[in-house]
Amino acid sequence: MPSGTSAFKCSSTAAALLLLCLGPLSFAGASEDALTLADVSPLPSARVWFPSDEHPAIDYAGRRSDDAMALLMRRIAESKTSLHRDDASGYLTSLLAALKVSQDSQMLVFSKTSLQRQFISPQTPRAIFFSDEVVVAHTRGAPLIEVAAQDPRLGMVYYVVDQNAAGPDTIRRETACLRCHASLASVGVPGNLIRSVGVRANGAAAQQVANFNTDHRSPMAERWGGWFVDGIAGAKHMGNLMLAEKGADDSVFVPVTKPSTLIGYPSPHSAAAALLVFNHQMHLMNLLIRIGWDARIADFQEKTKATTPDVTAALLASDAREIADYMLFVDEAPLTGQVAESAFAKSFSASALRDGQGRSLRDLDLRTRLLRYPCSYLMYSRAFEALPAPARAAIYSRIAEILTGKDRDARYAKLTPVIRGDISAILRSTKPEIGAYLSQ
Ligand code: HEC
Repeated sequence: MPSGTSAFKCSSTAAALLLLCLGPLSFAGASEDALTLADVSPLPSARVWFPSDEHPAIDYAGRRSDDAMALLMRRIAESKTSLHRDDASGYLTSLLAALKVSQDSQMLVFSKTSLQRQFISPQTPRAIFFSDEVVVAHTRGAPLIEVAAQDPRLGMVYYVVDQNAAGPDTIRRETACLRCHASLASVGVPGNLIRSVGVRANGAAAQQVANFNTDHRSPMAERWGGWFVDGIAGAKHMGNLMLAEKGADDSVFVPVTKPSTLIGYPSPHSAAAALLVFNHQMHLMNLLIRIGWDARIADFQEKTKATTPDVTAALLASDAREIADYMLFVDEAPLTGQVAESAFAKSFSASALRDGQGRSLRDLDLRTRLLRYPCSYLMYSRAFEALPAPARAAIYSRIAEILTGKDRDARYAKLTPVIRGDISAILRSTKPEIGAYLSQ
């Protein structure tokens, strides 16, 4: 097993807070650490190593990033645009507009689980906004707006916008964020986190009561601890709850009410529809970053004769199995409850690519599952398009095996022939690159 110096150090604070880091991690990929078939597990989640951010094929800290925030910074430097502050929320409104992130995507989290935790509470929750490639986090009164933007090659790149600064120092790239944002919970690459925790009245997380990393596979009952959630009725979830005060049994939850006026936030909303989409998207972004890194490192090692094409193929096939299942929502937890209409749902579907019958991968179901046609719209994202060709090919070929019925495993039974046919038709017309795989 290759070993190397840990490039993503797990600090003890982060480990204590997140319970995610499993001691020093070992990494494959430094040029002396050749990849072999023994390093490839049937599923990448069974691996005990992570790709190194210092590998020359990655060079996370040194390589120029082309994420949306980096592009914005360049436009500001060239005086093509600028950010403006307003009294209510500083640079937030202007930043969201410049990054084309919709205000309708606002979700509110009140657990003290992230960087500027002293400013976060049920009275001043942290607002998170997202698009297919950028996530922006703002807390009223906090000095920094936090941004995570996906570079097609590097993965999530982290920035802060200093609410008290003006001029060239206002935005800066930060690597210290990786203390929490590169761990097992982000599949070992710089990536996204979504936690669900039991929270005390002041917003502090009570780790021992409930403590989950969540994505679309998480049962509803495990989701949204420490988050405000509106627009969902009849579902059992952990949103809008806090732990009863001391003295009571520590597992008793009581309702926590969202402040009736939320000054300094674009809207009062924290729509269930947005949270459900966010739960899906963040983990998939991480998985796509990992296969991109694996493909680039393997390609580098092939060129230096440190590995062989059969190892690369096995590695990418292993990543692709997990990605295809996730992109096709195979293990999605059933959606319970009635989700109300929301401005978010409308703007989410507005930009969709549609087939001749008007169908799209951005059509929300929101009755029993997230998507009407359960195949992820991130297939069209800049990060997906920029994956090395062998990585895209591995994903297409695995998705095609499932959609064409070549793989008849019982776990794919809920993708009925009708659903598989609909998804295939949409893909053929909106994503021609996968067409050839579907016809094989
Ligand atoms: C102490 C651990 C910790 C540190 C350090 C940290 N974060 Fe986070 N961050 C979290 C957690 C946990 C979440 C999940 C949402 C929540 O619980 O608030 C999160 C969520 C986010 C999100 C929303 C997207 C996502 O991953 O869910 C952004 C954007 C973000 N952080 C930016 C940053 C930036 C920028 C920095 C560095 C300046 C940073 N974070 C440092 C813990 C941390």
